[in-house]
Amino acid sequence: MTATAAIAAPVPESPLIEVRELRQWFPVGGGLLRRGDVVRAVDDVSFSIAKGEVLGLVGESGSGKSTLGRAILRMSTPTSGQILFEGRDVTKLGRRALRPLRPRMQFIFQDPFASLNPRMTVRQIVGAPLLIQRPELDGAARDARIGEVLRTVGLSLHYAGRYPHEFSGGQRQRIGIARALILEPAFLVADEPVSALDVSIQAQIVNLLIDIRKELGVAMLFISHDLAVVGHLCDRVAVMYLGRIVEIAPTRALFRRPRHPYTEALFSAVPVPDPTIRRERIILKGDIPSPLAPPSGCAFRGRCRYALPECASAVPPLRQVDGGHWTRCIRDDLKLGRSL
Ligand SMILES: Nc1ncnc2c1ncn2[C@@H]1O[C@H](COP(=O)(O)OP(=O)(O)O)[C@@H](O)[C@H]1O
Ligand code: SF4
Ligand SMILES: [Mg+2]
Repeated sequence: MTATAAIAAPVPESPLIEVRELRQWFPVGGGLLRRGDVVRAVDDVSFSIAKGEVLGLVGESGSGKSTLGRAILRMSTPTSGQILFEGRDVTKLGRRALRPLRPRMQFIFQDPFASLNPRMTVRQIVGAPLLIQRPELDGAARDARIGEVLRTVGLSLHYAGRYPHEFSGGQRQRIGIARALILEPAFLVADEPVSALDVSIQAQIVNLLIDIRKELGVAMLFISHDLAVVGHLCDRVAVMYLGRIVEIAPTRALFRRPRHPYTEALFSAVPVPDPTIRRERIILKGDIPSPLAPPSGCAFRGRCRYALPECASAVPPLRQVDGGHWTRCIRDDLKLGRSL
């Protein structure tokens, strides 16, 4: 892919986050693997997110979504590429230099139970970031802020003395969200934030996230395999396959007319609200290949029903098919995602 295509792809006018040709490779050794093998978990990924924008990130398990989310928040050090946050290059910053930026970017975890310290009360969990980042606040001011953020997530200060095990899964996720919001971040990475919850609770947490984005204008990278939820919450959606973005587009455009065969297959399982439209359900054959040895050319070709011999020759570049709509497929003759 050409650098200009990659960088030009999804850059709004004043991006909050800009990711340029990001790679996160993991060396793996020992066992039967050859020395020098690497897992290319994230490979040449470029995109941006505007202030207040919610970008969905979808793709099968193992496609690199979590690794990408963690790298952007600098929970890891990328192998190469660049991450700009509010115009500042944060790719290489060390722990100390990152500290003042931490309040601006927060992570919401999939499993709220595992991510909350069982020996701390809600007040301590939610208030801990304040102790570190806002030491000038006294106890009363801290409690006022904790009460405020608990109200935002639908809990009351009344519960603040309780421990995580005293809450339901949905309430625990609310506590995790409160902790992420307490320092008024500009950007959140939410990594499958509802997939560990009962189906009946999922909608409540999704609605909470919708309210939060409306009220607080916080931008989000929303990682999910639930495409219906993504359609509900996100302004744009990026589809990942084997470490690369294979399609990125405004949500409506992507749902209405996917341009990449992988997206078409993923979306074929999503019910369409219009009962007059029926889609063919496309069953993807086989598993996602190993990121240790990705296929040459288009990484999707072994599972693609439209593959041609030339799909093997080079990694297809991201090409623009419409305003803000990019696909990494060489075929522009396909009419995908059409009703039966
Ligand atoms: N620390 C690591 N070391 C080696 N491989 C890793 C590491 N983290 C993730 N991977 C591999 O990178 C790929 C992408 O993983 P991940 O980002 O968790 O995908 P997703 O979140 O889309 O399911 C997987 O093949 C996974 O096994
Ligand atoms: S480039 Fe070829 S193999 Fe890859 S998605 Fe397009 S048609 Fe399928
Ligand atoms: Mg993941």
